[in-house]
Amino acid sequence: MIAALALAAALASTPAAGCVAETGAFAWGFKESFRAYISGSIANGEWATEGGIGYATPAFFAERLEGPLALDPLAGTLAVDGALRFTGHEGILDTTISDVRLVVESPDTLSVVVDIRGTTQDFVPVDSVDVPFLTGDLAAAQWSADGATLLIEGIPLTLTAQGAEAFGTYPEGEAFDPLDLALATSEECAARAIEARTAGETVPLLVAAGVIAGGVAIGAVLAVLLRRRRATMGT
Ligand code: HEM
Repeated sequence: MIAALALAAALASTPAAGCVAETGAFAWGFKESFRAYISGSIANGEWATEGGIGYATPAFFAERLEGPLALDPLAGTLAVDGALRFTGHEGILDTTISDVRLVVESPDTLSVVVDIRGTTQDFVPVDSVDVPFLTGDLAAAQWSADGATLLIEGIPLTLTAQGAEAFGTYPEGEAFDPLDLALATSEECAARAIEARTAGETVPLLVAAGVIAGGVAIGAVLAVLLRRRRATMGT
């Protein structure tokens, strides 16, 4: 946190920097069929969240993802110090997914990297750190702006080979719930990122304002996401 603030201060004092999101938020169902299994009559279980991750039916959320994430081109990591813990079958199933990091590996590819502790479905203990758990297709997501918030919604996620091994049930390539991401930047940077995405290019240049604006309004960024999700669900 202190390191992130120091970095934000250093970036804010750098003239002519590129478009950057210092913070963001996500809303994510994890995997609907798994939630149904856990909360249903088979597993009779529940889930809990810790740290910077919360749950508001029907999605987990993080309102304090810490960057920075460069937008020109898209590169960097957004991380949250928090966990999702699933329990069921009277404690026989007990899986914790923690330290969620969204790593942009290329302008089109997002990797969800996590630590996993628990057992496989066959009760083999698992305690793996830095697992590239899911891979996301940024090009297949919906990009839009809400003021100074860049929204990348419906990022399709599939299980990697390492994720399949660590989670120990689903096969590689299994679809998890799509991820909705909101990034705090400036209006101009958000607009440029969308333009660049639409044109199939990366963001061309600058706008130091994006760096400065990136540190504000974390709750507001999540609020934009949740408002849009509610609108989509018609509630
Ligand atoms: C007492 C031990 C367990 C029993 C009796 C059990 C039973 C079952 C059954 C009957 C299903 C099929 C559910 C359906 O088709 O609707 C299932 C699915 C599943 N089980 Fe278990 N299970 C046990 C332990 C575990 C453990 C330790 C894990 C580890 C994570 C696990 C992970 C899963 C997953 C991921 C599914 C698929 C859920 C989905 O439909 O997406 N189970 N289990």
